[in-house]
Amino acid sequence: MNNQDIINEVRRKNDIVDIIGEKIPLEKRGKNYFGVCPFHDDTNPSMSVSREKQIYTCFSCHATGNVFNFLMNYEHKDFSQVLTDLATRVGITLNGIKTKKISTKYNDWYNIYDIANKFYQNNLMSKEGSRAREYLKKRSIDEDTIKEFEIGYSLKDHDSLTKLLQKKGYSLDLLNKVGISVNDYDIYHLRLMFPLHDLSGKVIGFSGRIITDSKQNKYLNTKETDLFKKGQLLYHYHIAKEAARIDKSVIIMEGFMDIIRASTIDVKNTVATMGTALTHDHIKNIKRLSNNIILCFDGDEAGVKATLAAGEMFAKENLEVKVISLNNNDDPDTYILKNGKEAFLNLIENAIYFSDYKIKTLSQGRNLTSSEDKANYIHEVLEEAAKITDPIRTEIILKELAKKFEIGYNTLEKSFQELKATKTKKQEVVIEKKTASKGKKDKYQKASFCIIYYMLNEQDIIESVEREHLVFPTEALRALESEIVYFYHKYGFINEADFYTYLTPKIELVNLLAEIMQLQLKSKVTSKELLDYFNVIKEYNEKMSITKLEEKIKNTNDPLEQIKYAEQIRKLRIGEK
Ligand code: GTP
Ligand code: MN
Repeated sequence: MNNQDIINEVRRKNDIVDIIGEKIPLEKRGKNYFGVCPFHDDTNPSMSVSREKQIYTCFSCHATGNVFNFLMNYEHKDFSQVLTDLATRVGITLNGIKTKKISTKYNDWYNIYDIANKFYQNNLMSKEGSRAREYLKKRSIDEDTIKEFEIGYSLKDHDSLTKLLQKKGYSLDLLNKVGISVNDYDIYHLRLMFPLHDLSGKVIGFSGRIITDSKQNKYLNTKETDLFKKGQLLYHYHIAKEAARIDKSVIIMEGFMDIIRASTIDVKNTVATMGTALTHDHIKNIKRLSNNIILCFDGDEAGVKATLAAGEMFAKENLEVKVISLNNNDDPDTYILKNGKEAFLNLIENAIYFSDYKIKTLSQGRNLTSSEDKANYIHEVLEEAAKITDPIRTEIILKELAKKFEIGYNTLEKSFQELKATKTKKQEVVIEKKTASKGKKDKYQKASFCIIYYMLNEQDIIESVEREHLVFPTEALRALESEIVYFYHKYGFINEADFYTYLTPKIELVNLLAEIMQLQLKSKVTSKELLDYFNVIKEYNEKMSITKLEEKIKNTNDPLEQIKYAEQIRKLRIGEK
């Protein structure tokens, strides 16, 4: 048996209804079982578990997958851990099979970081760690928190970690490359060590904090490597993933210490950058956690600046974030220490919209005395207000503004409407352009979804799709289709539950597949319906070919070539091949 066969057997022998049933109460209704979904905050049984398909699906938060995916999310474990647990449970020996999840190239890297992580943690608890332990105690970080965040300590000597890792067979070359050593010395000395995890929870580097007042940089991060990219990494993301689903929000903070402190009061839906401004990669990943995003940066001037910059970035992505603003000399860490859990939960509850925050900051540090200053200010506020879609909120803002500057409400309202009208016009142009370039994508996408849905239900359809050389309209759909075809040819069958296991490393495709499988189409498709779907895709493919040919015509000056392409277009239009 090859690896995939063994993995599939482990999955088949661990019935999903039994496994999920051990974690949450399930009740049988019709063919399926239902329970309260553990992945979001709910009291209704919105999760369905199918014994027949060996799949779970939440109709509310759209969590979905097979027994492996469920345990990975429920127990925060990675694929190989879950595989081992389930294999042990049913007495299957894995004989050290390597799961495909990680390309083997980085296995050594992960092992090195894991060893270093344990090494640092041991140091903290050893005799040499007493100063660091004292430091943590002074900052009210207790033992549970130390364990939870895997906080460690690096030693005074030059090379104990490098030596240890060399003894375990890792070359100096590699240790230099992964950022643990420089030449034959350890990088870190006498620093508190915070492991950095990638989005899925594997350690991929460290940040070390000094514990004395010294002129050194307060934090020293692992250098940028293949795995650690400052502009992508979000501290605590792997934990925030599940917490955000439950709390239905995610809070962005500035520092490690803020995140750690918030965790001590059970606020775990938090992430932080590595002290840099937010990048698009960060935003993309944060948006995956929740659409309800709250900024909670330090109260100082830098924090205000960072809040404004971050809020604008999210606004560009059509997302209005909320803001918690702290006093000038507070950060979330000190605020929570001083005021406690309830006070902080209150701040979260009362976070204000970014536009309201921005309007508030617009007046700060300005003395609005001359009529020109006032008018400028009012226009800036109106600009902001025009971005708000909720008419009640804009009315409140206009009323406050009218009162504050003793202007007639109607005057203000009139300039506001004018401003809005010009804005809407601009926006309409943008939207028109967007939809024009997308064409009638929806129809094509719908047909592709239906075809893929049935490819997983009936193997004949996989063969028809191949025979017809259908080209789906998006990159992701094409990738999913070729994975299905690949799986089918490799294993000679396709089954939704096994296919999920196979796809698990490619999270975007898993999400796409989940979206498709939630269509709840009827179980059999008639050949007439299938033909219709195929024809829609063919129509799309023809259109694309015509567009390409038209471009070729534009790009050549040779009249003979142009005639050739025009002839090809004509043939396509009348349906000849
Ligand atoms: P404490 O000062 O211990 O409360 O830590 P903090 O995490 O709250 O740090 P702070 O608010 O000063 O800075 C916010 C974040 O910026 C930190 O968590 C780091 O990620 C980053 N940062 C701060 N100082 C440095 C530094 O000297 N070097 C680097 N590379 N990053 C830093
Ligand atoms: Mn701080």
